[in-house]
Amino acid sequence: MKTVYVPVSDPYEVRIGPGLLPTLGSTVRTLCPRAAQYVLVTDAGVGRHWGEITASSLDATGLAGDTYTLPEGEASKTAANLVDVLNFAAARHLTRSDVFIALGGGMVGDLTGLAAATYMRGVAYIQLPTTLLAAVDSSVGGKTAVDLPAGKNLMGAFWQPKHVLCDTDTLSTLSDAEFTSGCAEVIKTAVLFDADLFARLLREGKDFDREAVIAQCVDYKQDVVAEDERDTGRRAFLNLGHTMGHALEAESGFALSHGQAVAIGMATVCRAAAKTGLCPDDVPRQMEDILEKFGLPTRTDIPFSALVERIRSDKKRSGGAISIIVPVRIGACAIRTMDTAAAVEFMKAGL
Ligand code: GLY
Repeated sequence: MKTVYVPVSDPYEVRIGPGLLPTLGSTVRTLCPRAAQYVLVTDAGVGRHWGEITASSLDATGLAGDTYTLPEGEASKTAANLVDVLNFAAARHLTRSDVFIALGGGMVGDLTGLAAATYMRGVAYIQLPTTLLAAVDSSVGGKTAVDLPAGKNLMGAFWQPKHVLCDTDTLSTLSDAEFTSGCAEVIKTAVLFDADLFARLLREGKDFDREAVIAQCVDYKQDVVAEDERDTGRRAFLNLGHTMGHALEAESGFALSHGQAVAIGMATVCRAAAKTGLCPDDVPRQMEDILEKFGLPTRTDIPFSALVERIRSDKKRSGGAISIIVPVRIGACAIRTMDTAAAVEFMKAGL
């Protein structure tokens, strides 16, 4: 097992390794000693595989609780479902000293985190990421949200979990498509911070050591989040490929997974950066090589004209400017802030 410490305003640990779900009950007892109840939020697929073992661990310590099961998929990350989860907790008289547990991928973690942030103005929650994407990115750092019709994650709050318990056994029930989607965020971490990790991923492909690589990615993430908990500076680096990625994800009606969309976004930014002299010519080739090795796309058939409005209204826009993360080389990136028209032209150069 590996442990990564996240030194934010309310610090916590991320534990990563096999066989950890059965230890959840004792972790809750230690971290939330006044808790008498829990609400466990999951989705139908994850709940079928891992709900029982999770609830049993909690129940064995004498905690009372119930499970709320969402339908699978990003379409469940709605304000209506958030309110349903809050009503579920209220109907069970959950108190301020009780705890929400998020068992699932990014959709479950983000929605449950926001429920915890808003229920009685904030209660504790624990993240149990069961997808690679949630393990290396969304479960760590306290970004909680649901989607609005106008865009992804538009209703949210910063609310750090009390703990993140990543049982790597849960990755065994992921489909290949879900696992591959998470690989895009692992590759993102390597491109941002670590040329050696990039080389290792290129060598090993999807056979990489789950525990070691997840811990490495979480360690990079904690360093960024500790410095910029509220996403006003360096945390923007984690958005490599995401401006184009979010536009593609939404425009495809979520037919493209988050990872596929981010992969195309990263490849586009690398091609644009090389064409505009911001990075060496071999960076886009290396990026395309690794994405292809992992079975991730590097281009899209969606017409660029359909993406322009979405790029212009990117959530990461501030005033009239968008900050785009561009690679300087594999393992190091820079932030380029440009007006929205220049950002659109830049992306176009990478098509
Ligand atoms: N997923 C990007 C962040 O946590 O800032």
